[in-house]
Amino acid sequence: MPKYQNDEDYDIHALLEVIFLKWGYDFRGYSKASLTRRIFYFLQEERIDRIPDLQYRIVRDKSLFSRFIKDVTVNVTEMFRDPVFYQSVKENIVPQLKTYPHIKIWHAGCATGEEVYSLAILLEQEGLLERSTIYATDINRSVLDRAKKGIYSDSYLQQYETNFENAGLKGHLSDYFEKGYDHVIVDSALRKNIVFTEHDLVIDHVFGEMQLIFCRNVLIYFTRGLQSKVIDLFSESLDFGGCLCLGIKETLDFYEHKGKFKTLDPNNKIYQRTR
Ligand SMILES: C[S@@+](CC[C@H](N)C(=O)[O-])C[C@H]1O[C@@H](n2cnc3c(N)ncnc32)[C@H](O)[C@@H]1O
Repeated sequence: MPKYQNDEDYDIHALLEVIFLKWGYDFRGYSKASLTRRIFYFLQEERIDRIPDLQYRIVRDKSLFSRFIKDVTVNVTEMFRDPVFYQSVKENIVPQLKTYPHIKIWHAGCATGEEVYSLAILLEQEGLLERSTIYATDINRSVLDRAKKGIYSDSYLQQYETNFENAGLKGHLSDYFEKGYDHVIVDSALRKNIVFTEHDLVIDHVFGEMQLIFCRNVLIYFTRGLQSKVIDLFSESLDFGGCLCLGIKETLDFYEHKGKFKTLDPNNKIYQRTR
């Protein structure tokens, strides 16, 4: 009985093995459907005909591999994405954060930073930003570079302003930006407690004793096996009483050690580590 259903399956498996051996990045636990689509998109972009040709070239060409990382990861994000989630953070997490003298927060898979600045604004409004350190990480260096700069096209501003209002925050989102010609720049006061750095959830280690971890819209790209491994990592990285926020489409329900967590908000997928 052949191990692979077809040649495409075999080619993708071989490509991911070779990438792991050569570059140490491990995409073998990513969900197949989405990853396959992204690989075919990458072949088109690079005008490479076949996966075995990509396999040959990617081990010999570091810049091709860097572009591969950039293109196979999905970096879609927005400010105050799922606004009701931020209302829930205010209700369920902020009162507890107020009891800590210093707060450590990890945004895993932060993409271009919109989510990180959204939380920073919420913390600022609650008088918590000064005593917070926010670690914002991603596997993709190019999105982190954009996140660090905090410069965004103003074409999304109207949408973000609506999200901001629906999240129940005070004032206007534009109060937190400097306006450029066709872009906005996030206020430097918001940026000063944020550390942007590369971290790969699949191969890198525990991140520190966190009071809050955001990892929204990242685990959906992983198989259940890899999701479990990453949730183990979060569980080890969280202080007792610390909170884990997953995206609306994600869940801890399948997780073998879910007894370690109490559900604070089942709709917005906010969990608290209790043991
Ligand atoms: C769809 S974005 C989510 C952005 C943001 N959290 C949000 O919900 O709007 C997913 C991000 O996860 C990152 N990512 C994918 N695999 C990763 C890994 N192994 N380690 C760290 N980040 C990863 C991608 O580069 C991408 O920026």
